[in-house]
Amino acid sequence: MDNLEKIVSDALEQFGRIDDATQLEQAKARFLGKAGALTDLLKGLGKLPAEERREAGSRINAAKERIEAALTERRDALARLQLDARLAEEALDVTLPGRGAGRGRLHPLTRTQDRIEAIFRSIGFDVADGPEIETDWNNFTALNNPENHPARSMQDTFYVEAKDKDGRPLLLRTHTSPMQVRYARMHTPPIKVIAPGRTYRVDSDATHSPMFHQVEGLWIDENISFADLKGVYTEFLRRFFETEELDVRFRPSFFPFTEPSAEIDMAFAAGPSKGKWLEISGAGQVHPVVIRNFGLDPERYIGFAFGSGVERLAMLRYGISDLRLFYDGDLRFLQQFA
Ligand code: FA5
Ligand code: MG
Repeated sequence: MDNLEKIVSDALEQFGRIDDATQLEQAKARFLGKAGALTDLLKGLGKLPAEERREAGSRINAAKERIEAALTERRDALARLQLDARLAEEALDVTLPGRGAGRGRLHPLTRTQDRIEAIFRSIGFDVADGPEIETDWNNFTALNNPENHPARSMQDTFYVEAKDKDGRPLLLRTHTSPMQVRYARMHTPPIKVIAPGRTYRVDSDATHSPMFHQVEGLWIDENISFADLKGVYTEFLRRFFETEELDVRFRPSFFPFTEPSAEIDMAFAAGPSKGKWLEISGAGQVHPVVIRNFGLDPERYIGFAFGSGVERLAMLRYGISDLRLFYDGDLRFLQQFA
């Protein structure tokens, strides 16, 4: 009983030195726990004579209260220290200027496609969209490109494992021309439509990408001629490049789905690339077999079509020499297109 004061002062001294919450709880056990110093004394009470027991009991309880009070105080102090440390660590300088989230912008190819759409809409064309996984029939056969015909090898094709409902292979469309078939079979002439979108071929170099974009154009009516196609396409190019100083030529070519067929070349009549002819599009008068596959009478309807490379148009407009820059995702390149 005489060492009660010593136990209390030991406890206060130990608690005061500890600056870790776990160690504090271990120290508590040494004094107040089952085998703690005070608990031992309490157990010894029973052996005291009855008249001493009451007084000894109340002294032990007073000591216990002091130890508990010191413990609580130290717990609070440690919690405050911990909080202060955390606040210091996570300090936020609200006076720093903000970094700001970078503002996104449209990809140059998206801007190019939007521009193409706006121009064609303004001259009376509808804009249509279709699937990138196509049937063999829409991509080739309906376009007068029969199975096993060597013309199919003009477009090296990605096939997918799935088949259509007739067991024919499905493929990643090699051009936007299957949209001619889809659109013409769902609308009645006169038809004036463009169909921009992604296309795929086994191709890869500075001017060819395995995934690229085309914009298809289809114009079907009873009384139109090649001159109309030429006029519309030349007008489109002048507006797209914002210049009248531009020459356009239709150079004879071959596509199974057009007859006659042409490649459309253009050259700037001024500027650094003055006089240099560049191929930008395939075009032609829709083949009578294809008109029939549209479900239309080739004796009555005449069609004109073109399929232009969107990357090619964007490269010419922005003066870019390697189309892979469009797909590298390098912000230093992309941020130049405000
Ligand atoms: C065609 O794809 C025809 N469907 C175009 C057509 C439509 C002709 C309607 C007649 C009537 P061609 O394979 O030439 O044609 O491709 C057209 C344009 O797509 C090319 O002039 C070129 O600008 C672009 N192109 C073709 N392959 C790639 C490629 N791998 N990467 C980027 N652009 C390409
Ligand atoms: Mg070509």
